[in-house]
Amino acid sequence: MNSNSSRIFKLMIFSSTLLIVGCNIDKSVPNIELVQDMMESPALKPQEKDDFAPNGIAMREPVEGTLAVGYVKEPLADLTIAEKELKNPFAGDSSKDVLMTGQKFFVTNCSICHGIKGEGAVEAKSSVGELMPLKPPAINNEKITGWTDAHIYFVISKGQGLMGPYNHHIPQKYRWQVVNYIRHLQKEVKK
Ligand code: HEC
Repeated sequence: MNSNSSRIFKLMIFSSTLLIVGCNIDKSVPNIELVQDMMESPALKPQEKDDFAPNGIAMREPVEGTLAVGYVKEPLADLTIAEKELKNPFAGDSSKDVLMTGQKFFVTNCSICHGIKGEGAVEAKSSVGELMPLKPPAINNEKITGWTDAHIYFVISKGQGLMGPYNHHIPQKYRWQVVNYIRHLQKEVKK
C-alpha cells in the first residue's frame, strides 16, 4: 500500500467509526458524546439562577438610561415638561402614508378599548372595554381635540389610570403617527 492509499484507508476507517457512533440505532440509549465541550456549554440560559449576579438571575438588567437602537431620549417624567419639550415630527401631516401607519397601530393596540373610530367603549360596545369597570372614554371628542399632540403622545406612552403604557409596544415614530390618526378621527366626527 503506498502512502496515499494508506491515508485514504485510515480516513475511511475514521469516518465509518464516526458514522457508527453518530447513528445510534437504539433510541432508548443516549448517544455517545465524543467531544463534550461544545454540548455542555457553561453559559447560563436567560431564565436560570445566577448566584454571582446582584439580583440572582442570569439575565442582566440594562444600565439605567439605556435606549434601544433607533430610540431618542424623551422627557416623559412630567406632563408639563413633556408638553414643552416634545415636538410631533409629523405635526399636521395627514398624508396617506402617515395615516395608514397610524391606523395600523391604532386598530391593533387601541380600538379594542376605545372603538374603531375612537368613539369610546360604551358607544362602540368594544369587547375589552365593556368588561372594564371604568369604560374607556371617547378620544375623538372635543375634549381630546383640544389637547396638544404631546399630551396625547404622553398618555399613549405612559398610560393613564387603568390604561397601561404603550411605549414598549409602539416605537416612538409610530406613536406620533397614531396621534395623527386620532386627529384624523376627530375631523371625521366633525364632518
Ligand atoms: C385596555 C383598554 C385600553 C387600551 C387598549 C387603550 N386604552 Fe386609552 N384609555 C383606557 C381607559 C380605561 C382610559 C381612561 C383612564 C383614566 O382616565 O383613568 C383611557 C384613556 C385614554 C386617553 C385619555 C382620555 C381622557 O378623556 O382623559 C387617551 C388619549 C387614550 N386613552 C388613548 C389611547 C390610545 C391612542 C391607545 C392605543 C395606543 C389606547 N388608549 C389604548 C383604556 C385603554
